[in-house]
Amino acid sequence: MTKENSVIEELAELKEQALSKISDSASLADLEEIRLAYLGRKGEVTSRLKSLGKLPPDLRPSAGQELNRVKRAIDEEITGRKESLQQKELNDRLVNESFDISQPGRHKSLGVFHPVAGIMEELIDIFTRLGFVVVEGPEVETDEFNFKKLNFPDDHPARDMQDTFYVKNGAKLLRTHTSPVQIHAMLKRNPPMSIIAPGRVYRCDSDVTHSPVFHQIEGFHIDKNVTMAHLKGTLELFVHRLYGKNTGIRLRPSFFPFTEPSAEVDISCMLCKGKGCRLCKGTGWIEILGAGMIDPNVLKEVDIDPEKWTGFAFGIGIERVAMLKYAIDDIRLLFENDPEFLRQF
Ligand code: DAH
Repeated sequence: MTKENSVIEELAELKEQALSKISDSASLADLEEIRLAYLGRKGEVTSRLKSLGKLPPDLRPSAGQELNRVKRAIDEEITGRKESLQQKELNDRLVNESFDISQPGRHKSLGVFHPVAGIMEELIDIFTRLGFVVVEGPEVETDEFNFKKLNFPDDHPARDMQDTFYVKNGAKLLRTHTSPVQIHAMLKRNPPMSIIAPGRVYRCDSDVTHSPVFHQIEGFHIDKNVTMAHLKGTLELFVHRLYGKNTGIRLRPSFFPFTEPSAEVDISCMLCKGKGCRLCKGTGWIEILGAGMIDPNVLKEVDIDPEKWTGFAFGIGIERVAMLKYAIDDIRLLFENDPEFLRQF
C-alpha cells in the first residue's frame, strides 16, 4: 500500500468512527462533546490539519483535500443530528408538559369572615348608616377611665360586676368594657355627637358563655333633648335590621353606674318566636344588650353641661349576638379557630 493510500484510509476510518458516534449521540450535550473532540481547537481533525506540514511534501495536497472533506462530512453530520435531537427534545417536553384536559380544575378556596368579624362589620354598617361615627380607644386603660370617670365610686360593689385583669402592679388594667371610649371621645369633641366604639375587652372569667377576651360595640348619642324614646327607637331599628322586622324589643329596668335610668334590652326569642323554649328558658325573651341615659355625673366629669345636653348609651356583646344568630352554644368555638367550624359561616 502506498503511503498516500494509508493516509487516506486512516482518514476514512476517522470519519466512520466520528459519524457513528454522532448518530449514536443521545442528547445535544453528548453531541457537543463529540463536536469538540473532532472539530474543537484541540480536536482530532483540527490537530491533523495543523500538522499537515509534517507530512512529506508530495502527500500534503491529497491529505489536505481529504482532511477537509472529512471535516465537512463530520460538520454536516453534526448539523443534521443536532436538528433531529432538538426536535426530539422538543417532543419530549411537549409530551411531559401536556395536560389532561378531562381533569377537573383546581380552584382556590375562598376565605370567609370569622363570625365575630362578620357581625362586627354588620353592626358597624347599621350604625354608620344612622350617622354614628366609629372611634377606637386603648385596650390598656387606667382605673380612671375604665371606672372612676364612668361614675364607679372607689370600693363600690359595682366594680365586682367586672372581674378585672390588672397590669403593671395595678397601675393599669385591661379594659373590662368599651365604655371608657365614651370618656376619651367626650373629652376630645363637643356635643352633639353620635359615636360607636368597637373593640376587644377583657375579663377574668371563663365558661361556656364567657371568654376572658371578647368584643363589644359601645354606642352613644349626645344632643339637646335626647330622651329614652330616642334610645328605644334606635335600638329597635338596629334589632330589626339584624334579626328581622318581626323581632320584638323590650326594656327592663337595670343598673349601670354610668347610666340613669339603666335598662337591660331583650329581644323576642328568634328560635321559638316568643312562645318559650330552651334557648330563652321559657320566657320568650333573650337579653342582648345594656343601655340607658348617660348619668349626669359622667357628663360633668368631661365638662359637658348636663342641664344643656343629654344622651343615651348602649353596649352590645358581639359574641353573644353571634351565638344567638348562628345558634352556637359554646363561646370557646369562636376562639379556637378550627377551620372546619369557621367554614360554615
Ligand atoms: N359597659 C357595660 C358592660 O360591659 C355595657 C353597657 C351597659 C354599656 C349600658 C353602656 C350602657 O353604654 O349604657 O357590661
